[in-house]
Order: sequence, then C-alpha cells, then structure tokens
Amino acid sequence: MISKKMEDAINDQVTAEIYSAHLYLSMSAYLESIDLPGFAHWMQIQYQEEISHAFKMFNYIIERDGRSRISQIDEPPFEWNSVLDVFEVAYAHEQKVTGLINNLVDIALDEKDHASHIFLQWFVNEQVEEEATAKGIIQHLKLLGDSKAGLFQVDRELGQRVFTPSTDTAQ
Ligand code: FEO
Repeated sequence: MISKKMEDAINDQVTAEIYSAHLYLSMSAYLESIDLPGFAHWMQIQYQEEISHAFKMFNYIIERDGRSRISQIDEPPFEWNSVLDVFEVAYAHEQKVTGLINNLVDIALDEKDHASHIFLQWFVNEQVEEEATAKGIIQHLKLLGDSKAGLFQVDRELGQRVFTPSTDTAQ
C-alpha cells in the first residue's frame, strides 16, 4: 500500500497535470484567435497529453490501494503577447513541472518506495522530451523572425500532430 505522504504528493501532481492541461487549452484558444490553427491544434494535443499524465497518476494511486483526490484547479492565463511568448511560457512551465517530478522522486527515495520510484521514471523521461520539444519550437520561431511564409509553414507542420496514447500498463 502507498504511504500517505507519497499518496498526497502524487495527488498534488494530478492537480498540477490538470492545471497544465488547462494552461495549454487556454493557449490553444489564444493561438486560434491570432489565426494560427496549426499551433492551436498542437496545443490541443498537448492538452490531451497532460490529461493522460493526470490519469496515469490517478490510476497508479488506485492500483497501490490509495485514494485519488481531485483538488481545485487554478484558472490559467488568458492572454499572451505573441506565439513566441506562448512557447516561452510553456517552456518555463515545463521546467517547473520537471522540478515537481524531481521532488516526487526524492519523496519516493526517502520513503524507500521502490514501486513509486520506478513508476516515476516514465515522467522523468517525459519531462526531458517536453522541455526539448518546447525549446525546439522556440528556436524555430526565433529563426523565422518576421517571415510570415515561414510561420505559415510551421503552422501547417504543427497542425499534423496526433495524440499517441502511452501503451504503458500503468495508464
Ligand atoms: Fe505533464 Fe507537460 O508534463
């Protein structure tokens, strides 16, 4: 059975993952409002990914004979200054989430909870990918500068993104 401390910490992360989902959905609405439907679509897929992260943790707690708890989710921001601003905020947000995941790993180690330690490795790896993806899009946008044709091309590319559910058994 999962310890109360570990259960509380993972439950807090479920709330954080749902907040991330809402943040990206809000970003999607903003991107749609500035006529970037491909970027907006990309953020909707990001929303789905974050919800899947929350579910993965929610189900893990149940699997360990704990009790999942849904807390209040803060309202995300509504406005940004540009598409570059959106991705800079997203990148900073993912760096913050990496810190939260690392804290969970620290708790698992303190509690000698090997199952949680192994479970959390998926998220450690996922954060490497999340940060690299956001950083990559920022670099791409900076290279484009004021090129409207370039922005249109990237918008089309990001519009192709599809949601691939994790095949992990913990999902
Ligand atoms: Fe759930 Fe974007 O990490």
